Amino acid sequence: MNPATKETILFVDDEESILDIARTYFQSRGYKVHTASNGREAIDVMWNNRIDCCFTDINMPEMDGLELAEYIRNHDNTVPVVVMTGYPSLDNTIQTLKNGVVDFLIKPINLRQMEFSVERVLRERRLFIENMLLTKEVEGKARLEKLNKDLLEKNEELNVVNRIMTDFAALRESTDVLKQLVDLTAEFVQADVGCFYLINEAADQTIPIAYTKTDGAENICKHKVDGESDLFPWSGDPKVQKLIFDVVKDDQPLLISHNNGSGCLPEQINSFMLTPLKIRSKLLGVLSAFICKSDVRFNEKDLYYLSFMANKAASAMESLALYENIYNNLLATLYAFVKAIEARDPYTKQHSNRVTQISLALAKAMNCTTEEQDILNVAGLLHDIGKIGIRDEILLKPGRLSRDEFSIIQQHPIIGADIMDNLGLWHREKMIVRGHHERFDGTGYPDKLKGQEIPLLARILSVADVYDAIASDRAYRKRMEESKILEIMYGGAGTQFDPDIIDIFRRMYESGEVAKLTAETD
Ligand SMILES: [Fe+2]
Repeated sequence: MNPATKETILFVDDEESILDIARTYFQSRGYKVHTASNGREAIDVMWNNRIDCCFTDINMPEMDGLELAEYIRNHDNTVPVVVMTGYPSLDNTIQTLKNGVVDFLIKPINLRQMEFSVERVLRERRLFIENMLLTKEVEGKARLEKLNKDLLEKNEELNVVNRIMTDFAALRESTDVLKQLVDLTAEFVQADVGCFYLINEAADQTIPIAYTKTDGAENICKHKVDGESDLFPWSGDPKVQKLIFDVVKDDQPLLISHNNGSGCLPEQINSFMLTPLKIRSKLLGVLSAFICKSDVRFNEKDLYYLSFMANKAASAMESLALYENIYNNLLATLYAFVKAIEARDPYTKQHSNRVTQISLALAKAMNCTTEEQDILNVAGLLHDIGKIGIRDEILLKPGRLSRDEFSIIQQHPIIGADIMDNLGLWHREKMIVRGHHERFDGTGYPDKLKGQEIPLLARILSVADVYDAIASDRAYRKRMEESKILEIMYGGAGTQFDPDIIDIFRRMYESGEVAKLTAETD
């Protein structure tokens, strides 16, 4: 070691000559040396300087060597203390060891012996410090790893929670929520089977209404008891039923991490969880998760996810119900306007309703989706709502309309679409309302759309609308002859109407379905 980098030694003795000898000798060996003539002075030196080891006499005025050793041990146990005494006694020796003294030198002290001691205690000190640092480093690493693990877990938890929330928020039908709930159960808690039971408390009945299972779970989960439905393997199992009703009664989630064979669970179920689902503190049902094929076991965190999902599903159902309620209320209000328009003209009574029914029958026959049928239902009921702005003398005028009057009538699809646009709902429905007087050959109004440019549902609505108009009595004429009606309908294929839709209409008309529909609506 370079002499300049050697450690600092503190010598404490009330004999000045000893301090002088030690200072001269150890400085010449490259050490930095401080001296003090008693314990008190030594402490002052230590406050102001970094000390690597201390050699002290025992008997000194003010503060002796034993007190000093104790002070050092209490304040910095990395500084080794070596005691130098001329009168070693057993008591002294025991006391010095108690005070953390690491070596004992007997006066008169040989300098070489002293140097040997310095080298030894400093070597030990370096090892001690190195060890301490290493331990701290290892502890630090372990702490860091734990923090990292905690962070990853939190992150994963957050991702799961986020996915659950966005998945539920994206749903538009409250009936979809329960299916989504059981699907998420299989995904996030790795359940083989997830099932939601509606609870009929009055009849002590559980009704499994949504369930999901992972691939291969079906065969392993095969376990039916007498009279059980095919829907879900354990829906009628008395043990499962009992646990469900325990959860209903206690109003608390339940976790059976490991089926220990005590008989409270069917033996095919390895791990099991249940949580109640409540909407506005009223119980709707119970969500369950089963593991029956793998060795995985549910834990507390899985139970937390299960309860969280049930809560989010409850909120999603509540807000959807609210939305559906508002939506239906609004539709009912607007339909009341349509009825008011129809009431102005007794001949058009129930027109919108009949048009809707015929349109829906056509849409079904054309394999339109349920979403398209929903759109058509709203558009059909509201298609003539724009007539609200047209004066009675034009709307109800018997006989032919003048060119100006007809151009006013032609405004009603635009006014209707604008009314729906202002509500911010029903964008697709709005386009159907606007397009219900377009003609397949591009000569209709208001946008002169042609062929496939006209939305399919508007083309369907147009067939139903024209048929009902000519097949019922009007202010200015009676119901047309059937031959005339069919001439207009069938003859309009490719000019006024989409020929494919007329084909379907012809089939429905000839089978008597159209007549049946209009008779039912009247
Ligand atoms: Fe119309």
